Amino acid sequence: MRPTGPRIKSPALLIAESGADREGHGLKRTMGLFQLICFGVGAIVGTGIFVGLSDSVAEAGPAVVVSFLLAAVTCVFTAFSFAELGSALPVSGSSYSFAYATLGERVAFLVGWCLLLEYGVSVSAVAVGWGQYLNELLDGLVGWQLPAALSAPPGEGGIVNVPAVVVILLAAVLLVRGIRESARATAAMAVLKLAVLALFCAIAFTAFTSDNLSPFAAHGLAGVTSGASLAFFSYIGFDAITTAGEEVKNPRRNIPLAILVCIGVVTLLYCLVAVAAIGALSAGEVAGRPAALSLIVDSVTGSTVGGVVIAFGAVVAIASVVLAVLYGQTRILMAMSRDGLVPRVFQRISPRTATPVANTWIVAAVFAVPAAVVPLDVVMNLTTIGTLAVMAAVNIAVIGLRRRHPGTEARFRVPLYPVSPLLGVLFCLYLMWGTGWTTWVQFAAFVAAGAVVYAAYGRRHSRLAAQEAVTSEDAPKEEARIASS
Ligand code: ALA
Repeated sequence: MRPTGPRIKSPALLIAESGADREGHGLKRTMGLFQLICFGVGAIVGTGIFVGLSDSVAEAGPAVVVSFLLAAVTCVFTAFSFAELGSALPVSGSSYSFAYATLGERVAFLVGWCLLLEYGVSVSAVAVGWGQYLNELLDGLVGWQLPAALSAPPGEGGIVNVPAVVVILLAAVLLVRGIRESARATAAMAVLKLAVLALFCAIAFTAFTSDNLSPFAAHGLAGVTSGASLAFFSYIGFDAITTAGEEVKNPRRNIPLAILVCIGVVTLLYCLVAVAAIGALSAGEVAGRPAALSLIVDSVTGSTVGGVVIAFGAVVAIASVVLAVLYGQTRILMAMSRDGLVPRVFQRISPRTATPVANTWIVAAVFAVPAAVVPLDVVMNLTTIGTLAVMAAVNIAVIGLRRRHPGTEARFRVPLYPVSPLLGVLFCLYLMWGTGWTTWVQFAAFVAAGAVVYAAYGRRHSRLAAQEAVTSEDAPKEEARIASS
């Protein structure tokens, strides 16, 4: 008989299909815990803190610290869910694969579709932030900047954002050359960016004035809420760790551990950076300023040397985010392709480099387009709302996992189940609300387009559906064989 209800994949099938339980399955298991943490930090710390901080301050005032904490709490609840799912289902594909095994194919496709915002559009947003700091660095070093026509999108005084396109193409070159080299480069960048932010704090705290912290919540709860939605962007990426499931040594232990360590480290760092920034200059002076961290250091030290160092750190930091997020997008599409929901080209692995070369180039080319011509706030807000929708689904998926597959082995279990995932959903909805109605309208149109693509392509090419059809056709023959034997 044909199965009814949503098409759900069993965890065992998910792992067996990906080959994550075998050696020699195409991708190499090369990443240990330290590399994985660096990979996480590489995916997280970037445009959000270096570029977005001043926008969050404009909304929340000194209470931006509360905004960061609210965003962090949302991430912690969701990280627990990611950690349980990641330790139960150690395969590439992240939230998409988790949703497939717990909430069914239709929801999984839409999660995968929203991941195009969290990863693909995020690559565009982060690359635009990189271009801003590159110009800042050029200005500090040689007193020259790229003209606006070649470094800003139409509508913001430019024609095309060339640096944003260039950094995406460079990241693609690194990725097609192989995870070992990419991971090593990412580790070095992660250590450097932490050092640069620590240096910023050390300098800014020398000018700390407690008077700058009042009035604390200058724009009330509404300001803190929209500040938190903006601050959330700077946390996006911790779940990229779960997209590396097939390339991690001992994934059931290392994935949950790496996620929780990353969230803890960046939360501490962001709160310190925010307090240091507002303590050194007033919230009014920081609000909405481009390259605010460089500006603060220049003003505290009375020289441009410190600002150049910070700009250099930002250029490196943001480049490593582009690398990690582009990597995540290719692995998600690979998982969706294996399931037949997107074309087969996305799962092809080059025998020479053991990486998905065609996939990487397609993703880089497609998301270089919004990087070139769409304003930063539009792509940032779309990334944020898409990511929060995915994270809400992940919190629901952990409930689905426990209910549908109660026997699944998971080294990590969310504390206070089901309170923790339910609070995760509520916090995600709260921050989604804070993004504003224009973003909601754009997001609704994007999701509607996803539903059409699923109906027109994914549903018809689904491998799981084909398997189910074969099984149901074979069932009567099998029954007859058993009866006659
Ligand atoms: N969290 C990433 C960044 O801030 C997306 O650049």
